[in-house]
Amino acid sequence: MNLDSSVAAVVTGGASGLGAATARALAAKGVRVAIFDLNREAGEVLAAEIGGVFCDVNVTDEASVIAGFEKARAAHGQERVLVNCAGIAPAAKTVGKNRETGEPKAHDMALFEKAIAINLVGTFRCISKSAAGMATLDPVDAAGSREDGLRGAIVNTASVAAQDGQIGQAAYAASKGGVLAMTLPVARDLMNDGVRVNTILPGIFETPMIAGMPEPVQQALAAMVPFPKRLGKPEEYARLALFLIEHDYMNGESVRLDGAIRMGPK
Ligand SMILES: NC(=O)c1ccc[n+]([C@@H]2O[C@H](COP(=O)([O-])OP(=O)(O)OC[C@H]3O[C@@H](n4cnc5c(N)ncnc54)[C@H](O)[C@@H]3O)[C@@H](O)[C@H]2O)c1
Repeated sequence: MNLDSSVAAVVTGGASGLGAATARALAAKGVRVAIFDLNREAGEVLAAEIGGVFCDVNVTDEASVIAGFEKARAAHGQERVLVNCAGIAPAAKTVGKNRETGEPKAHDMALFEKAIAINLVGTFRCISKSAAGMATLDPVDAAGSREDGLRGAIVNTASVAAQDGQIGQAAYAASKGGVLAMTLPVARDLMNDGVRVNTILPGIFETPMIAGMPEPVQQALAAMVPFPKRLGKPEEYARLALFLIEHDYMNGESVRLDGAIRMGPK
């Protein structure tokens, strides 16, 4: 798919980190970008910067997602591109310790369910609603594409934790493993609608999610990366997201973007 001003896109979690970098990269190509996020303040600032539109969306809330797509489509027309970046990374062991008594403590189920609700169900909710709209579009007029019948492209964000989740990542890894597992069946479901679906499994990236960790922890994480020996940059994620959107033969694939890191138990 050619990315230019004829294309509208929705980026969830677009107010920060990987989503923000992707929103900027799409806008730099002329794409009309709608940012779906809980963070109104940052989202509105970025939308103003890139000439896009901010939609106050909680991906766990059906009505809010429906309203977000309505607002985005009213502003820019039906999107051909969806990038799912909204997510959280909670940490808790399957059996932890009660801080006061030191006794074994079962995982907080509300936290487990929250990770699944945002990272997995929220991603699927946006995919399904966006693809239903994409299916109504005419195929894109890019070289060769009209023949293919391509109407839209979707990129999801899982994590290397989907394959090598660490201690304390049961909920996170389960949610991201779900995103990884559904990539192929969703691509198959959408084959007659002309919508391609791919997923990125980022390693460790320099975003607010990671910047919140103490400096020594960040350095230890960077030292675990074989090469290049550093954290990934959000722009590097954005470059792969755009590649997956632009490359018409990429479909149903999940790609690690991680400097060859394989996460150990901790
Ligand atoms: N940074 C990393 O190293 C890394 C590694 C692997 C995977 N990921 C994944 O990449 C994605 C983006 O992460 P990031 O590092 O940019 O994090 P981030 O915290 O910088 O950005 C995430 C954005 O999602 C938004 N969000 C959270 N819950 C939401 C909800 N219910 N509805 C709408 N928006 C919501 C937040 O407000 C925030 O703006 C996440 O899914 C994360 O799990 C990140």
